[in-house]
Amino acid sequence: MAATAHGNLIFAIIRRMGIKILGTGSYLPPKVLTNADIATALDTSDEWIFSHTGIHARHVAEEGETTSTMATKAAKAALDAAGLAPPDVGLIVLATSTPDYNTFPSTACIVQGLLGCTNAGAYDLQAACAGFVYALEQARGWLACNPGQKALVIGSECLTRIVDWTDRSSCILFGDGAGAVVVGSDGTASAPAATTILGADGTGRHFIQRTGGTMASLPLDPQTGIPTAEPQVQRSTLSLMGHEVFAFAVKTMSRVTHDLCARKGVETSSLDRVFAHQANGRIIEACARRMKLPLEKFWLNLADTANTSAASIPISLDQAVRAGELRDGMNVVLVGFGAGLTFGGTYLTWPHL
Ligand code: UT7
Repeated sequence: MAATAHGNLIFAIIRRMGIKILGTGSYLPPKVLTNADIATALDTSDEWIFSHTGIHARHVAEEGETTSTMATKAAKAALDAAGLAPPDVGLIVLATSTPDYNTFPSTACIVQGLLGCTNAGAYDLQAACAGFVYALEQARGWLACNPGQKALVIGSECLTRIVDWTDRSSCILFGDGAGAVVVGSDGTASAPAATTILGADGTGRHFIQRTGGTMASLPLDPQTGIPTAEPQVQRSTLSLMGHEVFAFAVKTMSRVTHDLCARKGVETSSLDRVFAHQANGRIIEACARRMKLPLEKFWLNLADTANTSAASIPISLDQAVRAGELRDGMNVVLVGFGAGLTFGGTYLTWPHL
């Protein structure tokens, strides 16, 4: 056997022994709010929203449904797909910008309790719409240090509870839902070098904001530094600078995908599938043009789900798996961006991280 072929075989064996996605799941609330429904209350239309965003409808959590209940359903489906039981899980990382509680308990802990993951540590991760990519990388790192373990990585959002329903330029963009993956290592510590990029640009922090109720606005006693008033329960709403975010999204997701391929030593054209954060169909079309990739390689579900922030990539992955569109050995990139600003991407040789 030639030396390089021998090397490739060893690399392939190491890869097979490494860290991989074992199962996927997702949950979308049954209640659907169409553009036409919104147009009964706001000066907008299905025509405007669809032509500017690619969105026709979004799922909306009903009374009693929260980020944790949706996450629990998505996670249960992912565990079932992986053939695992809740006690098999050693870690839950839950990416969200809409936790059930403002600070604690974490939504991940609520999910841990609801599912019965009695052997799992659990925490939330906040990196807005890029959160799932960040969470996946944290789980990958933990698994590399804890061979044989399994982790649940979840993105779940209840955005329809925080958008400003009087602002037609932003409320039309968002929807609710959850997606999850189970990631496992097979007992060897031989995780291949990560092909992941995580980044942030805090100078653009005002591009997407949830205003109101910040610690910075509390009046303090000048002597003691102790707050002199109770924290105000203010109405917090979401505001965004659409043009600036649009430009950042196209530039960043294209660059991250290109850089991941360069690190991997492959051409961008060799990608089989790109799972980009679903913020706007026109953003994804512009990324495809910039990367000179056919749009068919990009997963698109915005028409029915709108922007589900940290949940958008795992929901897309689960839909692709269940549609038989992801096959072993496919070259896949997951890439997202979000408030912060944050961005991140991961290259997979499906289902290996
Ligand atoms: O995941 C991260 C969060 N996502 C984002 O931040 C999304 C990124 N940005 C975008 O997707 C797009 O910039 C938007 C969809 C938000 C806006 O699309 P646009 O093509 O950039 O529209 P625009 O802001 O330039 O607005 C054009 C016009 C304005 O009217 P005038 O000033 O030209 O008279 C808006 O007032 O369209 C008006 N408009 C609407 N009209 C009907 C804005 N929203 C609506 C609406 N229905 N829903």
